[in-house]
This record gives sequence, C-alpha cells and structure tokens, in this order.
Amino acid sequence: MKPLNRVIVNKDTSFNPIWIMRQAGRYLPEFRKIRKENPNFINLCLNDDLSSEISLQPLKRFDLDAAIIFSDILMLPYGLGQKVEFEKNFGPKLGELDLNKIVKTDEIDFVEKIHHVYKVINNVSSDPILNNKNTIGFVGAPWTLLVYMINQQSPKKNLKTDFFKDEFLINRILLIIEKFLKVHIKNQIDNGANIIQIFDSWVGLLEEKDLPNYVYSPTLNLVNYIKSLDVPVICFPREIKNYKEFCDIVKPDAVSIDYNVDPKNILKNIKIPIQGGLDPKILLTDKETLKKEASKYLEIFKDHPYIFNLGHGVLPETNPQMLEYLVKTVKDYK
Ligand code: CP3
Repeated sequence: MKPLNRVIVNKDTSFNPIWIMRQAGRYLPEFRKIRKENPNFINLCLNDDLSSEISLQPLKRFDLDAAIIFSDILMLPYGLGQKVEFEKNFGPKLGELDLNKIVKTDEIDFVEKIHHVYKVINNVSSDPILNNKNTIGFVGAPWTLLVYMINQQSPKKNLKTDFFKDEFLINRILLIIEKFLKVHIKNQIDNGANIIQIFDSWVGLLEEKDLPNYVYSPTLNLVNYIKSLDVPVICFPREIKNYKEFCDIVKPDAVSIDYNVDPKNILKNIKIPIQGGLDPKILLTDKETLKKEASKYLEIFKDHPYIFNLGHGVLPETNPQMLEYLVKTVKDYK
C-alpha cells in the first residue's frame, strides 16, 4: 500500500509520510530556469514534457512520499474558456467572466483544452521514481474558484464590494464549476492520480452564515463523488474558523490544517487523519528552530494518523537545503 493510503485508509501511526505544498515550484533553481525560458505560465502547465519534469524535480532531490503534479487550480476556468494569465509580481489575472460562453462549453471542449494535464499525471505516475509513492491530483474548491472567476484576481484580504450582487450568476457559475470539477477529477484519477486534494484557499473570506451554501454543500458533493471513485480525498479549507464543523459535515478522508491552527486543539476535536500545519516561514529560519518546530507537530500527532506537510505552500525564498533537512528530520523521527 502507498504511504499516504497507509495513513489515510489504514490509520497507520507507525510513520509519518511527507510531501510539501508547492514542492514543485519557485524555490528550486531548476524550476526557475525552466520558468525563465517559458514566460507563459499556462502554456508551461500545458507542456507535458516540461510539466512532468517539474513535477519530478523535488522527488529527485528529496526523499518525499508523493508527487503533486505541476499544474494550477486555475486550469479549470481556463478550460471553461475564461482568459487566465499570470503577471510577474502580481499573480493571476483573469478575463471578464462571460456566462453565455461558459454555458456553451461542453465536456469535450473542456477536456480538449486541458488534456495535457492528464498526460502529465500519466507520465509522472508511471515514472519509476514513483514506485511505492503517491501521485496527488488536485483541484480548487468550488468557492475558491468562484472567487477567482468573479474577482478576476487574488482577493488579498477582501472581496470586491459588489461580489454577491448577482446571486443568479453566482449560483449558475457554482453549478458549472461543480460539474466540470467532477470531469477534471475523474480524468486525473483515470490517468494515475491516487489521492485528490481540494484546495479551498479563500474560505477565510466568508462569514459563518455563508459556509453551508458556498463551502459545505458544494465541497460535500465533490467529496462524495471522489469517494465513489474509491480514491482518498484530502480537504484544505484554509483559515476556516471551525475545522471540526467542516470535518463533521464534509467528511473528507483527511484534513490539511493551516499554520494558524493550534495542533493540540485540533487533535482533541478531530478524529480523521490530519495533514500539515507547520508555518512555511519556519523554513526561513535555521536548522535548530526548524527541527524544534517540526518535532512539535510530530510529537503532538505521534498517536494520530498524520501526514507531514506545511500549513500553506513553501515560500519562493526558501533554501532547498532547509527542505532537505526537514524531510530528514521527519524521516528520522520514529
Ligand atoms: O504544489 C505544487 O507544487 C503543485 C502545483 C501547484 C501550483 N499552484 C503551481 C503554481 C498547486 C497545487 C497550486 C495551487 C494553487 N494555485 C492554489 C491553492 C493553494 C494556495 O496557494 O492557496 C491557488 C490559490 C492558486 C492560484 C495561483 N497560482 C496563484 C495565486 C499564483 C500566484 C502566486 C503564487 O503563489 O505564485 C499562482 C501561480 C503558481 N502556481 C506558481 C506555481 C509554481 C508560480 C508561477 C510563477 O512561477 O510565477
């Protein structure tokens, strides 16, 4: 059985597998070199040779237990025909959302636009380096994708003031997102993804009263769909105030926690396997601090099924040697 399945399915507490969010990315000089030669980020995601290579880069350096494919949650709006660009020092920039165009997109158009992503999963999962390791497919949660599609850029701390103005549009778009997320997930699984992670990066922007409609209900539908395909699903509802309520309602197979969460408190309240938590900024300090902080999580979760990861993506300014040291610390712990 693959390492993440041992923890998630078998609830094995005898070891802690490790992978890192954004492990395929900007802190690696070998990634930056490829990126420099490929200024169009979407085209890079659609270049199956280069994206496969980038996905494998961290595994060539570190003893990680899983590959996450090099892609982006915004491939979904791209597949639906919305313009998606990435601007240096700004982040994603999306085009105007044209409901008429989006409703006309069918499954065939969508898959045709982004089928290279599936080829990447196929390449990565069949690479010998992934023997006995997991290949993680991923999607953005419906709420987070809705935020990008309507806001057209990262919201930072707030949504546009008129974000909820057109409730009809919002609910139509949510249903379309959900439909195509299922297509996207199914294709990733058919091509070799054996874990799916759902990133809900912007849950923290919602008031509690809006969670059932925008987060719980659409995410539960996806979780149930992924379970029906017999693949474990990890949810990352970043900065949600009540992780316990989320887990009770959505029932993912495992939950990833952000770095603002008190791990002891989570341990008391949550029975399902847990992933992550360590503040990515700790990787910018020194080895001693890193060992101390990582050991804190390992100690707290020593009798609980726990996958080591960070509480958000690894920062671009991280020294790869610190990541190497982190992996070693986790591997040497038990
Ligand atoms: O984890 C991995 O290594 C796999 C690849 C991956 C990327 N994005 C590649 C990427 C994954 C899993 C994502 C998820 C993603 N993308 C999320 C959810 C996680 C989170 O960070 O909250 C979100 C919100 C996005 C949207 C997105 N993509 C933003 C906001 C940005 C710009 C800011 C940033 O973090 O770089 C991206 C660009 C992006 N996606 C890069 C990478 C490697 C950097 C591209 C570059 O080199 O300029």
